[in-house]
Amino acid sequence: MTRVVFASADPNSSDIRAVEVDMSTDLGTLELPAPVLTASGCAAAGKELDQFFDITELGAIVTKSVMLKPRSGRATPRMAETPSGMLNSIGLQGPGIDQFIEHDLAWLAQRGARTIVSIAGGSVDEYAKLAQRLRNVPGVAGLEVNISCPNVENRGQVFACHAGTAAQVVQAVKRFADPKMPILAKLSPDVTDIAEIADAVVRAGATGISVMNTTLGMVIDLDSMRPALAGVTGGLSGPAIRPIAVRCVWQIRQALPHIPILGMGGIRSGEDALQFILAGANAVSIGTVIFNDPSAPLRIQEELAQALAIRGFTSVSEAVSFAHRSATAEVGVEVSEEDQDGQ
Ligand SMILES: Cc1cc2nc3c(=O)[nH]c(=O)nc-3n(C[C@H](O)[C@H](O)[C@H](O)COP(=O)(O)O)c2cc1C
Repeated sequence: MTRVVFASADPNSSDIRAVEVDMSTDLGTLELPAPVLTASGCAAAGKELDQFFDITELGAIVTKSVMLKPRSGRATPRMAETPSGMLNSIGLQGPGIDQFIEHDLAWLAQRGARTIVSIAGGSVDEYAKLAQRLRNVPGVAGLEVNISCPNVENRGQVFACHAGTAAQVVQAVKRFADPKMPILAKLSPDVTDIAEIADAVVRAGATGISVMNTTLGMVIDLDSMRPALAGVTGGLSGPAIRPIAVRCVWQIRQALPHIPILGMGGIRSGEDALQFILAGANAVSIGTVIFNDPSAPLRIQEELAQALAIRGFTSVSEAVSFAHRSATAEVGVEVSEEDQDGQ
């Protein structure tokens, strides 16, 4: 329970109220004491953040996607600023699974943080090997399968962009992971029908959905008159993508009413996080904002408790998907396809 003290919304009242909000939530079998997590790639393995706040107070740490072998990532420059966001093409730099288990995971386990390990591969077989390598390793609360990776065996096509390849990866992970391990498939927004991909990965064995990864973007540097990133294109993140992410959560929740959803994309405040929860997310991840405010995850968690209390919620679970329920109850009419796209 989190105690929240706030002033009455009535401008004529000087009332100060104190209420308790139950911040616990779950992603299926993965029970979390709090609904705010870090986003993969934005907080490494949590060690640096632990200097700013107690990382065990968050729901969980989602680690940077790890691959089988060490990787130096893409050539520089690999970051560019954009209006209300940033573009990155880090290229999954990392120590490889063995070093990761020995150093990062061991540290997280000893620190007592719940850890969701993000895995990434260039082939279905690589994902399977990672899942197998992580079997029976202490300190793994769940797997997040980053399928926004190019398939080296198929002209670099991104796994997440096709229902078939997305499902193949998840099926392989499911087959080789611990049988009870929660498996979140992390989806890309760069698809025509996000609900179709979500449905395919759930049928393949995902126990939940993480959404969304960055969306593909590009910046031209006007001095060199060439692409600003050495990798030419990069992933756009930050507040610029928030409405896309909220829309993805909404559409997946509509299609799959009971699947656990971890929502993310441009969250900078508790009120931003609340949008995701009302749209259907059971928990949220915090990414880009960490680069300019390392204390953001815990601040956002506290702000979320306040945002819930002010609106009369006494728990996170009461608020999950609330926008769907109230949309049906208050509008009471079917919204036609034509009305939905705003054109
Ligand atoms: C620098 C950077 C590195 C990232 N690395 C990963 C990664 O390794 N694996 C992954 O699944 N997502 C990665 N992401 C995507 C984030 O986890 C998140 O899905 C996305 O940035 C949207 O959230 P945000 O706008 O709050 O950052 C990365 C994002 C950034 C900005």
